[in-house]
Amino acid sequence: MTVITCIDDLHRLYKRRVPKMFYEYAETGSWTQQTFRENTSDFQQIHFRQRVAVDMSNRTTATKMIGQDYAMPVALAPVGMLGMQHADGEIKAAKAAEAFGVPFTLSTMSICSIEDVAEHTTKPFWFQLYVMRDEKFLKAIIERAKAARCSALVLTLDLQILGQRHRDLKNGLSAPPKPTLANMLNLATKVRWGLGMLGTKRREFRNIVGHVEGVVDPSRLMEWTAQQFDPRLDWEAVKKIKKMWGGPLILKGIMEAEDARQAVKVGADAIIVSNHGGRQLDGAPSSIRALPAIMDAVGDKIEVHLDSGIRTGQDILKAYAMGAKGTMIGRAYIYGLGANGEAGVTSALQVLHKELDLSMAFCGHRDLNDVSKDILLVPKGFADGWE
Ligand code: GLV
Repeated sequence: MTVITCIDDLHRLYKRRVPKMFYEYAETGSWTQQTFRENTSDFQQIHFRQRVAVDMSNRTTATKMIGQDYAMPVALAPVGMLGMQHADGEIKAAKAAEAFGVPFTLSTMSICSIEDVAEHTTKPFWFQLYVMRDEKFLKAIIERAKAARCSALVLTLDLQILGQRHRDLKNGLSAPPKPTLANMLNLATKVRWGLGMLGTKRREFRNIVGHVEGVVDPSRLMEWTAQQFDPRLDWEAVKKIKKMWGGPLILKGIMEAEDARQAVKVGADAIIVSNHGGRQLDGAPSSIRALPAIMDAVGDKIEVHLDSGIRTGQDILKAYAMGAKGTMIGRAYIYGLGANGEAGVTSALQVLHKELDLSMAFCGHRDLNDVSKDILLVPKGFADGWE
């Protein structure tokens, strides 16, 4: 039994246990994957100031995100077809998040439905919305999220058309996988995964199959997005959705100060600086490099969170010190889920928390709420110098 001490340990197990198609879906970025790579490598350019001879007892990483108390400034990001990484993946991840004291965000493109997740959890989760052309569906899914007592709506603004990830096209990504020879040969080596899938009825996009009409092949994410997602999504539509929802609204996918100002103007409660894990516009800067300009523009007017590139608790601390009140993790918990189900997500959260807590202490703090940019050494020109 491997002793899990870091996210890489979970990654190794994950790669072994999950079918190649879903491993590669999670693992890749779009086109050349430059942005995907820089999301993590840019964090490594930032260093910490080590402080000594300070009391390190009684530490806390507890903070608030959109007015709610959480164990640390981390939320589980919405992840499409999470229930293909592990049987009942969304339910498992939501339960681990709830027990740890951080929010889980359910993707519109999930395998387990809103109702499935609500039934298996006791605390409210966040719901991520993709806007479909079908207005009836849009109204209905917002109502379903309200009925499930979701405590925030995370509206994704950077994916009304899908970025190209080569591996997904080559693999014929679908949920469930098609019984091709290549798939069957690969699935035959993933016994644990297969047994889990045989033991659940949740193997298709249950949030939307049966709720939207006119899809040729309901198993394919690429067809859903091309046929159903509304490419006209604009700020007027955001205002309309805000009204329909009526609760806390978080706008995800903001990379530019100008868009951050628009988010403030429409009355959002928070924004998430994100390039979708490097899966949409390849060549965009890393999200940690985009953060400072957005903090300068709107940091005193709206809660700013950061997504994309977080693989360690040190990354969480760096983003928080630079002003992000929350961070989103995607791959870091997917690895845990694919490796070990609910317990694996808990392991991922424990690893991240420990790294965050110890690093905070080494920087001379006992309470995360007291941490500021002062703990960081940021290279000159890190986030400016663009022409
Ligand atoms: C969907 O959100 C994706 O990135 O595939």
